[in-house]
Amino acid sequence: MYRLLKTDGRAKRGELQTVHGTIQTPVFMNVGTVAAIKGAVSTMDLKEIGTQVELSNTYHLHVRTGDKLIKEMGGLHKFMNWDRPILTDSGGFQVFSLAGLRKIKEEGVTFQSHIDGRKIFMGPEESMQIQSNLGSTIAMAFDECAPAKAERDYVEKSVARTTRWLARCKKEMQRLNSLPDTVNPNQLLFGINQGAVYADIRIDHAKRISELDLPGYAVGGLAVGETHEEMYHVLDETVPYLPQDKPTYLMGVGTPANILEAVDRGIDFFDCVYPSRNGRHGHVYTKFGKINLFNAQYEKDDRPIEEGCQCPVCKNYTRAYVRHLLKAKEMLGMRFCVLHNLYFYNHLMEDIRGAIEEGRYSAFKKERLEMLKTYDK
Ligand code: GUN
Ligand code: ZN
Repeated sequence: MYRLLKTDGRAKRGELQTVHGTIQTPVFMNVGTVAAIKGAVSTMDLKEIGTQVELSNTYHLHVRTGDKLIKEMGGLHKFMNWDRPILTDSGGFQVFSLAGLRKIKEEGVTFQSHIDGRKIFMGPEESMQIQSNLGSTIAMAFDECAPAKAERDYVEKSVARTTRWLARCKKEMQRLNSLPDTVNPNQLLFGINQGAVYADIRIDHAKRISELDLPGYAVGGLAVGETHEEMYHVLDETVPYLPQDKPTYLMGVGTPANILEAVDRGIDFFDCVYPSRNGRHGHVYTKFGKINLFNAQYEKDDRPIEEGCQCPVCKNYTRAYVRHLLKAKEMLGMRFCVLHNLYFYNHLMEDIRGAIEEGRYSAFKKERLEMLKTYDK
């Protein structure tokens, strides 16, 4: 299913074949938590800006609208009219970051919905059932993402439980995929590595989950408060113990610089809310760093957001006009910034793939990191 096409140092250029089409990696997945990209961006737009994979959340879709209704409507692909791959996060992370009062036990987690306070139980089986109802291309394992500052003793116990949960996820996914009325009988399960900043716990966990021979593996529990250097160190130590001939996914990361560094450490899937969140605040990405369109200096600027950018916004509108829309609090202003930012990330990944193919990733990374610092100098 995953073909490793080329390596350049530790950087991987691969492709993952799925029933919803082939994903070219390294790839940036565009985050649409509730089956909607924030900033009024539709799946029609995603096609236009070159999005390969859309990402939605089990937890959010379960507590609002409900996965059963979405299954009745033919599954998430049909519901949101998106025929390319969708990855769903398991709910584990969101339960820990969003939900109210929660209690973790061996069976799973009891928590309060952040929408209406109702009590909900989710364990590995429930998470797989919800993701199966959604019919995503890739389902993520139900895990616990321990806080970055968690004590070693807590992390050890938590990771051991996450390992037991993964075995239950695998078993349940196999059962669900074989049911006659399942939305996507070819749903893929990715395991998730945890262990906070403790390299030995991470390595041990990576070895254990690799034995399950899953179609892909993620590194979770990062970008949760540790420094960038600590995150790179974890990747340096851990990724070599995940199978190289399977996709590796760094969850929730990150800035363009983070992505350039992580690709160099063997990661080939990414997702992050930055391009959409920053876009909604008028912060837009360029090769030379981020700019804030609210700044007065762009008031009469008749250049596009980024010169040379081929996104639908840059081909048609000026910084001055987009700034005006933002200042007037028009939804269109946010939408334009988010569209440009997502295009920027998708295009960055295309350049990264090209550089690996040509065996010049190291020089490419150095050059891009230097360029990105321009506006901060
Ligand atoms: N998104 C960002 N980090 C994580 C993580 O550790 N686990 C899960 N399930 N999702 C995430
Ligand atoms: Zn643009």
